[in-house]
Amino acid sequence: MKTVALFSIKGGVGKTAAAVNLAYYAAEKGKRTLLVDLDPQSSAGFYCRVRPKSRARGRSLLDGRKHVVSLVRASDFANLDVLPAPRGFRNLDRHLDHESDKRRRLTPVFKRLGREYDRIIVDCPPHFGLLAENVFVAADTILVPVVPSVLSTRTLEQLVAFFADRSLRPERIVPFFSMVDRRKRLHRESVEAGQAPGSPFLSTIIPNSSVVERMGVERKPLLAYAARSRAAVAFLDLSAELETRSIL
Ligand SMILES: Nc1ncnc2c1ncn2[C@@H]1O[C@H](COP(=O)(O)OP(=O)(O)O)[C@@H](O)[C@H]1O
Ligand SMILES: [Mg+2]
Repeated sequence: MKTVALFSIKGGVGKTAAAVNLAYYAAEKGKRTLLVDLDPQSSAGFYCRVRPKSRARGRSLLDGRKHVVSLVRASDFANLDVLPAPRGFRNLDRHLDHESDKRRRLTPVFKRLGREYDRIIVDCPPHFGLLAENVFVAADTILVPVVPSVLSTRTLEQLVAFFADRSLRPERIVPFFSMVDRRKRLHRESVEAGQAPGSPFLSTIIPNSSVVERMGVERKPLLAYAARSRAAVAFLDLSAELETRSIL
C-alpha cells in the first residue's frame, strides 16, 4: 500500500485537481484506491459526487478501528472509494491536540484504511498544523504542486525547512509544476530552472487550462469528460512518472 498526500500551504495551486485525477487514474488501472479528503471545504468529495454522511464527525477520523471505516463511501467509478470531508474536519487540529500521540495519531488510521486499498491519495487543507504534521509522518510521499512564482518557491523551501526541523526526511517531498502558462516569461524561466539537473521537481508539467476548471461543473475527473485534452494527458504523464519512481 502506498500513501501519497497533496500538500501546499498555498491555496488554489491545484492540490485537489491533482488528488482527484491521480486517484482516478490509479483506480482505472485496477488499483483499489481511496481518496481521503481532509479539507473541510470538501472539494475532492464534491468533484467525485460523494457527500459525507450527515452524522460524520471529525473525531471519527481518529478512531482507526471502527469509525474511520464507516466514513468511507463508494464513488461512481470502479475501484475508487472516497472518504469525504465532513464539516467536523475543521476541528481536526484541535482534536489532535488532545491526543497523547498527537503528531503520529493518523499513522495507525491510514494503516487500518490501507488494509482494503492499494493506494491512498490524501487531499490536504492549505496550512501547517497538527493535521499537516500527521500527514507528513503517515504518508510515504508529499506531492507539492508549485505554480511558478517566487512566492511558491519560498513556500516549498519553508516546507523543506519544516521537515528538517522535525527530523522528517525531506526526500519524501516531491514538487511538480502546476497551472503553468508558457506564454508567461516567469513561468518559462521558473520551469527551466526547476528542471536543471539535481532539481527535485518532477519532469511532468501540468498546464494552466480551462478544461481543468470545468471539473467543478462536470463534477468528474478530467479523464471522464475530456480524456484527449492536453491537461488530461499531462495528469496521465504525471501518474506514469510517479509510477516509474515507485511513488504511486
Ligand atoms: N491546471 C489547471 N489549469 C487551470 N485551472 C486549474 C488547474 N488546476 C486547478 N485549477 C483551478 O484552480 C482552482 C484551484 O484549484 P484546486 O485544485 O482546488 O487547488 P487547491 O486544492 O490547491 O486549492 C480551481 O478552480 C480549479 O478548477
Ligand atoms: Mg483543495
